[in-house]
Amino acid sequence: MIDRAHVHHEHTGRSSESRVNKHIILEALDLRRGQTILDAGCGNGYMSKQFARSLDGDGKVYALDSDGDGIETLRKETIGTTIEPLQGDITTTTTIEESSIDLVYLSNVMHGFSSDQTRGFCREVKRLLKPNGKLAIVEIDKQDASFGPPMSIRFSPEELKQVIPLTPTDTVQVGQFFYMQVFENQK
Ligand SMILES: C[S@@+](CC[C@H](N)C(=O)[O-])C[C@H]1O[C@@H](n2cnc3c(N)ncnc32)[C@H](O)[C@@H]1O
Repeated sequence: MIDRAHVHHEHTGRSSESRVNKHIILEALDLRRGQTILDAGCGNGYMSKQFARSLDGDGKVYALDSDGDGIETLRKETIGTTIEPLQGDITTTTTIEESSIDLVYLSNVMHGFSSDQTRGFCREVKRLLKPNGKLAIVEIDKQDASFGPPMSIRFSPEELKQVIPLTPTDTVQVGQFFYMQVFENQK
């Protein structure tokens, strides 16, 4: 098991947009109108926009990121939509109401968490998810590619299953180098 106590990874801010297949992701998540979704570490918000489109204007998407400038840009772009951009840290208690979220989506963020942050993330996800709500984590495969974080901090689906205190359901390949692991908050 990798020692993640001192992981400190500066995200390059690069979006996974051109590297993952949004249609495969959306199909696997089987979203329903009226749902509330949290895109945690949303970056430029490209998936928040996809989620809002899939909910057809009926529901809500929180686009949360620790980067204030990115959130400000997204705020201007999403005025009048069902997307609510929020600056915050998903590894601590956020301002979002407990048991209010149907899906927490975390793409390309998890590998940067230290073990303390991972514990904080798990606590916050458990607080936010409705009974039977889902957590979907997109991560880069543990195989050589000409891009991406060091191999030593990447997670395999099996390693995610060891740290996430929810029931694993699906593992889906969502790009040449990316997979999505889905968990459920089963009661
Ligand atoms: C590599 S980018 C991925 C962005 C987007 N999810 C994607 O797949 O393209 C990582 C993002 O996570 C954000 N981030 C990192 N740690 C975070 C935290 N603890 N809480 C909220 N956002 C965080 C960064 O600011 C950055 O925008």
